[in-house]
Amino acid sequence: MRSYHLIAPAKINLYLEIIGDRHDGYHELAMILQSIELADQIDLEANDVQSIRLRSDSKEIPVDKSNLAYRAADLMIQEFPDSFATYGGVDITLHKRIPVAAGLAGGSTDAAAVLVGIDLLWKLGLTKSELEELAAQLGSDVPFCIGGGTAIATRRGEILSPLSGLRGIYIVLAKYRSLSVSTAWAYNTYRSEFGHTYIKDTESLAARGNAVHSGDIVQAITRQDAKEIAQKMHNDLEKVVLPEYPQVLQLKESFAKYDILGTMMSGSGPSVFALCESQEKAEQVKFSMREEIPDMDLELFVTRLITHGIQVVN
Ligand code: C5P
Repeated sequence: MRSYHLIAPAKINLYLEIIGDRHDGYHELAMILQSIELADQIDLEANDVQSIRLRSDSKEIPVDKSNLAYRAADLMIQEFPDSFATYGGVDITLHKRIPVAAGLAGGSTDAAAVLVGIDLLWKLGLTKSELEELAAQLGSDVPFCIGGGTAIATRRGEILSPLSGLRGIYIVLAKYRSLSVSTAWAYNTYRSEFGHTYIKDTESLAARGNAVHSGDIVQAITRQDAKEIAQKMHNDLEKVVLPEYPQVLQLKESFAKYDILGTMMSGSGPSVFALCESQEKAEQVKFSMREEIPDMDLELFVTRLITHGIQVVN
């Protein structure tokens, strides 16, 4: 086949704990990542010009080498030069639905879809773990985006342990269009403010990372107990993002007034989600939020937790 259409779901963090520093400048993390139905569509088509051409229906993202989807295609060319020579270049079209720079892994999931799509276009037959290894070279959230669902992510975020998929849980997602938070800024600020609390010795670091596997929130996920999951949600990055971005704090406070299970910032923000036990509840909360904050800069979505990552639709 000369073309593929892929669905690339966004993710939220149900849990994000910063454990310590790493020698490569990144952080040791313990996270629980969750795919949501809100997704981009990525079209890949073989071209005959021996190069990557990227375009998008969004004016908010670059379409050059600074786009992670472009870098994913570049990585495949470097890794599989013979296949590139045989099959030629790739035209990539990104249909963006996921808010940009929002803590929802929008760029990471597009890159994951490009890896999966080129694997198919070039008939490479890569395994999921081979794709995840390539994905880890692009960014910390990219490996998760390949398989998606619900998973514990440790170390830099690339070591994944799948958990049983959560069904029938909905979220309302809120993001101010004009607001974006740099992930690097959030982590660096956290380091300067809370670096003194970091676990330093290697053994304790590994033990803390492992402890999440038997933690309360993982047990709640195993029991599909949405109320308990909501109670145990946590995100260390809220400690630096909320004081700096009052609009994000305001979203959390507004959500908390309604009949929701819990509310949390996703990743490094600035998007905030509210967990709800039904689609009907989620729609009501969205309606109330819109009445409370009529500012059209605020984007609101109702979407649900899903059990998969990248999907091919043709
Ligand atoms: O891996 P990715 O490019 O998504 O990370 C963006 C930024 O987030 C990094 O430059 C780093 O500052 C921070 N980060 C971190 N530790 C991680 C993941 C990300 O410090 N485990």
